[in-house]
Amino acid sequence: MKYHSVIVVGGGLAGLRAAIEINKKNMTVGLISKIHPIRSHSIAAQGGVNAALNNHHRGYYDSIEKHAFDTIKGSDYLADQKAALKMTSNAPERIYEMESWGCPFSRTPEGKIAQRPFGGAGFPRTCYSADKTGHMMLHTLYETAVRFETQNERNEMTIYDEWFVTRLIVDNDVCRGVIAINIAKGELEVFRSEAVIWATGGTGRVYGKTSNAYSNTGWGMAVPYYEGIGIKDLEFIQFHPTELITNNVLITEGARGEGGYLVNNKGERFLANYPDSSKALEVAPRDIVARNMKREILEGRGINDKYIGLDLRHLGAKRILERLPGIRMHSIHFAGVDPINDFIPVAPGQHYTMGGINVNETTGCEVKGFYAAGECSCISVHGANRLGGNSLLETITFGKIAGDEAANYVSAGGSSPVNASIYDKILSEEEAKINDLLNSKGKEAHPKIRSEMNNIMDEKAGIFREAKTLKEGLDEIMALKEKYPNIKLLSSNKKANFELLDAIQLKGSLDMAEIILKGALNREESRGSHFRTDFPKRNDEKYLKHTVAKWNGKTADLSYKEVDISIYEPKERKY
Ligand code: FUM
Repeated sequence: MKYHSVIVVGGGLAGLRAAIEINKKNMTVGLISKIHPIRSHSIAAQGGVNAALNNHHRGYYDSIEKHAFDTIKGSDYLADQKAALKMTSNAPERIYEMESWGCPFSRTPEGKIAQRPFGGAGFPRTCYSADKTGHMMLHTLYETAVRFETQNERNEMTIYDEWFVTRLIVDNDVCRGVIAINIAKGELEVFRSEAVIWATGGTGRVYGKTSNAYSNTGWGMAVPYYEGIGIKDLEFIQFHPTELITNNVLITEGARGEGGYLVNNKGERFLANYPDSSKALEVAPRDIVARNMKREILEGRGINDKYIGLDLRHLGAKRILERLPGIRMHSIHFAGVDPINDFIPVAPGQHYTMGGINVNETTGCEVKGFYAAGECSCISVHGANRLGGNSLLETITFGKIAGDEAANYVSAGGSSPVNASIYDKILSEEEAKINDLLNSKGKEAHPKIRSEMNNIMDEKAGIFREAKTLKEGLDEIMALKEKYPNIKLLSSNKKANFELLDAIQLKGSLDMAEIILKGALNREESRGSHFRTDFPKRNDEKYLKHTVAKWNGKTADLSYKEVDISIYEPKERKY
């Protein structure tokens, strides 16, 4: 049995930032990640991170309040407003901290951190490192964490990479640690702790057409869900307007922030033709741009009936090479086009889960000693539609807050001692589950179930939704859930068995898909990213509420929860 004061699950930006905070407070921290931290999906973030730094003011000024207002308006008023203001208030300090730890942000001619325009923001507020911001931030935090780990600056952080968490240990609403498999050895071990911080990322891979890494299976949200912690607002799925048509690799919103155009098969900047994007055009919020792109394609104005052109040619080679070198390489390698000479073929695809683990603005919940931060969590600062550049911000602001909160909880006594036999009992249960899976005599091929789930979600829980197809999708997912216990693995070897990990995670993916569909079916309105063709208007009277899904041992039960609208009165969104 291993012990750390605090266990952090997930080695992306939120997890690393939380672990650094615990470590700064001289507490032992064990960070567990199923992949090496610098392979985390945070690395795929491109365009930037928002903060009201005011580095580009032109006679008018940005502020943390304007940033909060844009975030809340962008969320279609479903964000909890004090939480959103907390995030934007913390933003400048977190960015300068990243700078002080060595994050190589791009610079203005005078040497300040450069900021570019992003969708739904009234100000150039997005700090960036060319188009590799997530990469730079992740390496910065990993280096900072490793410095603590190896150079005796504080000698209390242990990183367990390639360990896979199968279970959160909760006893009488108190969190007591986790069970994880050492992937190489195939052995399960108990990690006892006073507190656990969850930072496992999103659920994008329940869809097929997604910019998400293969690691974003939804298992990370499912593990606390199975212990009775709610999942909030999971029906709100962000479809990023510009994913490469060939393989859904992200083509950053920064390309439009730098001045790129979206054009249809007539070469028109069609966003001008839609009332909700006619003014902001390519820098309208993502939900609006993605919908209008999809409309063009559905109405026969897509290029080759399939995609939209992202035209950067007028920006010139110098600017593309300096500010957008990554997406140029992606376009060359994966679509055979050089954006210096040709437009990039793009279409909307799944990108982000606004919903997640139901935690409050201090990252905690009803289970004592459990905290969640980053994309796996729903605080909620993004509501029904996240603004680009706010996800990286959420990771570092709430990662730090989770670290602080967990450290304070541990300092105040943490979880009172518990009979050690609960660990042995839960470990035996987990071992039995794994052995059953490895030795299953079932007939179903789990990769087939996964690809059927992906097709259902792409087809029936996409940008445009309606009762009939949502209901069909839900029935089909429930049928796949029935098949799941009958899956068969090809290998019963315990060591480095990635098939086993895929099979375990598929259960979580199916349960998250069920929650998305149920929440979407029950929400008979259109708000942010959730657009119901049969209920095209927002309905504040009935649905200005968060959806909360709870596991009943087999399926999800839904209930609703108030939204904090204590600062700004909800209004119609106009851009
Ligand atoms: O387009 C992008 O660079 C993505 C940014 C984000 O999702 O925040």
